[in-house]
Amino acid sequence: MLTRLRRLRKSPSMRALFQESTLSLSDIIYPIFVIEGIGRTVPIGAMPGQNLYSIDRLIPLVASLYGAGIKGFAIFPCIEPSLKDLIGSQACNADNVLNKAVRAIKSRVKECVIFADVALDPYTTHGHDGIVDDTGYVLNDETCEALVQQAVVQAESGADVICPSDMMDGRVKRIRHVLESRGHKNTAIMAYAVKYASYFYTPFRQAVGSVQQDKGDKKTYQMNFANMREAMRSVEVNLKEGADMIMIKPGMLYLDVLAHVKRTFMAPTLIYQVSAEYSMLQAMIENKTLDKRCILESLIAFKRAGADAIFTYFSPEVVALLSK
Ligand code: PBG
Repeated sequence: MLTRLRRLRKSPSMRALFQESTLSLSDIIYPIFVIEGIGRTVPIGAMPGQNLYSIDRLIPLVASLYGAGIKGFAIFPCIEPSLKDLIGSQACNADNVLNKAVRAIKSRVKECVIFADVALDPYTTHGHDGIVDDTGYVLNDETCEALVQQAVVQAESGADVICPSDMMDGRVKRIRHVLESRGHKNTAIMAYAVKYASYFYTPFRQAVGSVQQDKGDKKTYQMNFANMREAMRSVEVNLKEGADMIMIKPGMLYLDVLAHVKRTFMAPTLIYQVSAEYSMLQAMIENKTLDKRCILESLIAFKRAGADAIFTYFSPEVVALLSK
């Protein structure tokens, strides 16, 4: 036979030499949840292995993972129900738990990159990402006003990357203008340009207590998961508005979108392996139906499809797996 594809699969060294995509710790970003209080590590029922951490518990965790090679951390707050209201006022409070966490991390682990989420859902009683009218519709322009303030406070707290995940129209441009005018010229924006209205966010919503009760779903602002052309339009708009990088979310089911976006725009592109993707794999790993190394397979698939970086709850596991 002239061609035997198996020649290059013969030995571990041969396979390593011709491996096309690689995964390293500098490709991953760890999303972590922060709560008020001291000495609290509260397990998240819907996401076995993940916890809500009070700031004093968060700092040593971030420090040790940073020491192990994880460069980026995405902080999500879990707000006390008594502090939530209809308009998510706490989002713009410089002393909310997220901003306190950002300042604490930045003062202790100076070199890490902090991604701060911009959206109102952790702070609203109804769990929507924005301000709703009497009919339950999320108001675009009014919400943008709040998001801009939220972003400024996060930048002032020291966040390196501002991450609007709310899916309002025009928010990237408004945030960019205000950050520039307030002197935060090197604060980057990661736009969730392609965020589908996915069922796979449910464990996250349970973790931060933003499960929609009677107000329906997020389909008037998050995208229809049947749409690819709309995804391309959205990326184009977000880049024009000044986004430094683009997030696609969820991950595993949207590799086609990731590959198409990356090839078309060649912009820094991230993907989010979301909560249910984590919980599904984790459940099978825990009951020993799946080998742990399926984690690396799931992540390298994102690299192969074109991701520059990946949000994954498996980050601590990846440290362990890659150091073997
Ligand atoms: C909302 C937000 C969501 C996630 C991150 N930010 C969920 C939602 O739209 O309700 C989900 C992340 C995950 O599932 O891991 N701003």
